[in-house]
Formats: sequence, C-alpha cells, structure tokens
Amino acid sequence: MKKVLLTPQPLICAPPVVLVGTMVNGKPNFMTVAWCGVASSNPPMVSVAIRPARYTLKGIQNREFSVNIPSSYIVKEADYCGMVSGAEIDKAAVCKFNIIYGELKNAPLVEQCPVNLACKVEHILNLGAHYLVIGQVMETHISEDCVTEGKPDLKKIKPFVYGMGALPEYYALGNSLGRGFFVGKELGTKK
Ligand SMILES: Cc1cc2nc3c(=O)[nH]c(=O)nc-3n(C[C@H](O)[C@H](O)[C@H](O)COP(=O)(O)O)c2cc1C
Repeated sequence: MKKVLLTPQPLICAPPVVLVGTMVNGKPNFMTVAWCGVASSNPPMVSVAIRPARYTLKGIQNREFSVNIPSSYIVKEADYCGMVSGAEIDKAAVCKFNIIYGELKNAPLVEQCPVNLACKVEHILNLGAHYLVIGQVMETHISEDCVTEGKPDLKKIKPFVYGMGALPEYYALGNSLGRGFFVGKELGTKK
C-alpha cells in the first residue's frame, strides 16, 4: 500500500482518555490526559505527558497524583476537564465528582471512575512541549461491579479513546478480535 509522509508526530492512535487528579492549594483538581501509558510492570509504573502551562503541574509538586479511568457514560465530564483550568474553576464541583482517598492524601480519586490508580511521582522528564511524569502505582482501586472472577473486566469498565487527527472524537471500544497470546498461534508457535 502506498504511504504518505506526515510531519514527525507521536501518532500512537488511539490513546485512552484518563483524568489526572492532583491536590492544588488544598483542593482536588482533575485534568483530562490522552497522552498516557504503561511504563513498567514491576514496580508498576505509568506515565502522563503534561504541558508546562497546566495548573495540574502545581499539584505534581506534591509528588503524588491519581490516574482515573472514566467510563463512556461520563464522557461529557471528561471532555469538560480538558477544556477548562482548575486555576479558574472547581471542576470537581461542576462535574459533581465524589472524591475519595486511599493512603495517598494528595492523590484524589474520582469515585464515578471505575478504575483509580494512586501514584507517587518517581521521575519528571522535561521533553520539550511536555513534561513526562512517571509515577509508581501505590494503590489500584476498581469498582466492584467492574470485576469478573477477581479480574478487571474491560466490558464493564467501558473506557474510551480519543481519535485525534481527522476524527477528533471519543470512541468506545469495539468488538473483540480474538484472545491475546492465542489468535497468532494460527501462524505457528515457538518450537
Ligand atoms: C481529549 C483531551 C486530551 C488531552 N490530553 C492532554 C495531554 O495528554 N496533556 C496535556 O498537557 N493536556 C491535555 N489536554 C488538555 C488539558 O486537559 C487542558 O488544558 C486542561 O484544561 C488542563 O487542566 P488544568 O489547567 O486544570 O491542569 C487534553 C484535553 C482533551 C480534551
């Protein structure tokens, strides 16, 4: 297939949408982040890319933050948290978020989000347009009704992704394409 050359860009499509929670001036604030990811499994680490201008960065100075995974049914709230700044508006109040805490008191968790990671900041890398904040996951909370046989169940969590590019819209997950570490076996397995 013929390729078209775009300007170099971090086109990892389509990233999941999360709400990064911090405490700024003693108040919880939540910011929408699509540039996030798994950084390591042991110790468990995640990363979020945050522009210098974000109010959230002030809260990162506490060396704690949360990553909250919203379900499709709170897409409006998630979008809102990506359009207004905590410097001007109490987003948690507008969104009617119920805030809960685990052991880390500077990592506010949104109860309405089925998955909540409470993290300690391990590294902050200045990469230019964004700071890459890498956090160790100290606690993983999940809503009871999103667990099947003791495991997180994506169909119940209902996360969504951000399309970017030509389709800057939110998308729910589609159909299963087959079991991981299994469907590829049709092409052969290690001898
Ligand atoms: C879908 C979506 C994804 C976003 N992803 C990021 C991101 O990865 N990094 C970032 O710095 N800003 C991102 N933003 C913008 C911030 O969420 C936005 O500037 C927000 O108002 C910052 O809040 P704060 O000033 O309270 O920290 C995103 C916004 C939306 C709507």
